[in-house]
Amino acid sequence: MKHIVLVFFMLNLLIGHAQDTPTDFLTADFHKERRALVRKMMPANSVAVLFANAVRNRANDVDYIYHQDPDFYYLTGYNEPNAVLLIFSENQKNTDGESYNEMIYVQERDPAAEQWNGKRLGVEGVKSKLGFELAYNGSEFSSNSIAFESFDKILFFDFKNDYRDTSDKADLYDMIMSFKDKVNYPVDYSATKQQIYTMIKSTEIENSANVAQRLGRYLTRDESLKNDELLNGYINATDDNLRNEIKGKISLELEKNNLNSAIISEIMNTLRETKTKEEMVLLKKAIEISCVGQIEVMKAMHPNMSETEIQGVHEYVYKKYGAEYEGYPSIVGGGNNGCILHYIENNKTKVGDDLVLMDLGAEYHGYTADVTRTIPANGKFSAEQKQIYDIVYKAQEAGIKASVVGAPFQAPGQAASEIVAQGLVDLGIIKTVEEARTYFPHGTSHYLGLDVHDKGTYGPFKANTVITVEPGIYIPEGSDCDKKWWGIAVRIEDDILITENGPINLSEMAPRTTEAIEAMMKKASPLDKFVLPSLD
Ligand code: GLY
Ligand code: MN
Ligand code: MN
Repeated sequence: MKHIVLVFFMLNLLIGHAQDTPTDFLTADFHKERRALVRKMMPANSVAVLFANAVRNRANDVDYIYHQDPDFYYLTGYNEPNAVLLIFSENQKNTDGESYNEMIYVQERDPAAEQWNGKRLGVEGVKSKLGFELAYNGSEFSSNSIAFESFDKILFFDFKNDYRDTSDKADLYDMIMSFKDKVNYPVDYSATKQQIYTMIKSTEIENSANVAQRLGRYLTRDESLKNDELLNGYINATDDNLRNEIKGKISLELEKNNLNSAIISEIMNTLRETKTKEEMVLLKKAIEISCVGQIEVMKAMHPNMSETEIQGVHEYVYKKYGAEYEGYPSIVGGGNNGCILHYIENNKTKVGDDLVLMDLGAEYHGYTADVTRTIPANGKFSAEQKQIYDIVYKAQEAGIKASVVGAPFQAPGQAASEIVAQGLVDLGIIKTVEEARTYFPHGTSHYLGLDVHDKGTYGPFKANTVITVEPGIYIPEGSDCDKKWWGIAVRIEDDILITENGPINLSEMAPRTTEAIEAMMKKASPLDKFVLPSLD
């Protein structure tokens, strides 16, 4: 009887567990297919080595909430630190004659560590849940017998040096040290240098003078390259023959090791630029959740609210729908604060009668939205606020319309900038269109996906790409224009899916015209009745 009760209890625990946690993640097949696509794009006889994100310390014994490296997540579905993924361009054979083309090293199961910091998938978990056939504990990475020197190319992302050595003998630090040792990683390795050397190697002699001139500017920006003898020689060479001679030396230098940190970057940019159906389900959900956040805040907003409280309402909605994080720190700027493009202090205690610029995005199972609405805290746009808002709105409409398959990546920006510039001239805020950048100092679009500023090629638009279109006008106090415009900051940002049939606004659910915003702000909010005790 005791046994039956125990089995029943365990079953309940298992079933209960399965029912009580989300199940709508990307599937193991999705990640496996992505790895297969990487493999197809890899050069012959190469291996790609990708590391999980570092754990970053917040203070003392508290770390920041762990966030996986988006490329690593995209290719594995693994959400824990201290892991390495290897993908081989061709099948390899182990000592038993079995063939394989990928493997992963992950955190070892550890009941004591798991009691404090949460469950680990472990080797068995990544096999059964993530579909890896070959998986090992991280501690085995240093003793692997992969002959890295036998590959023509080792593809990897260069390191950011933000990983710490901990008492764990198989942490990211130890795995990276072991990798560097195995691949003879040069102490002065520089990804930028490799990129420039590669460019010089592929430059024809007749173009070398032009390239040398362009490189001069590059060098002034990168301290570590300033004293590079070969680069300086190439740039300062007075004739093509000398440049050709140095090019030969640079080619030899490149052959000294098989490390390559450019190719994997290009592969991931290409793959992540367009989204699959499975990804779109999650991305759309993140966007819709963020729109509901904007709607609920429009209903709840009043001049006595603080920026922090407004942020809290958005983020509560995210959690209510099961979004784990925000895709980036929430931006809630009342009045002049909205002029700081990435304002995250959010500490103004009363937003008053100002416009409130709210740029927030829920992150749902890795995918992040990025939606901005700017609304009058008192529910009604003033004449000046509306004039500025309507220019931004018109600019955004033009930007969205320009987001079509085949158009250059800059098309929405160009369309929106022209309208902003002309609008500012018409209002007398600037005299010539060339001055517009003073009040619209940022780009109009970026890719959106696992990263808020997602990866892509920046080539002509392809179908199934999601971008933002986000023009803005920011007129800080003290600007060189009539005082009546001071402190007005407007950004409108929507998430646009580019399709063969034209752009689709995925965030259209959140009111965007001044009329629709004012109408939404008149509606009652459930928070009107949510009154907390005073603590003074
Ligand atoms: N939220 C950051 C951006 O709009 O790019
Ligand atoms: Mn954005
Ligand atoms: Mn944004």
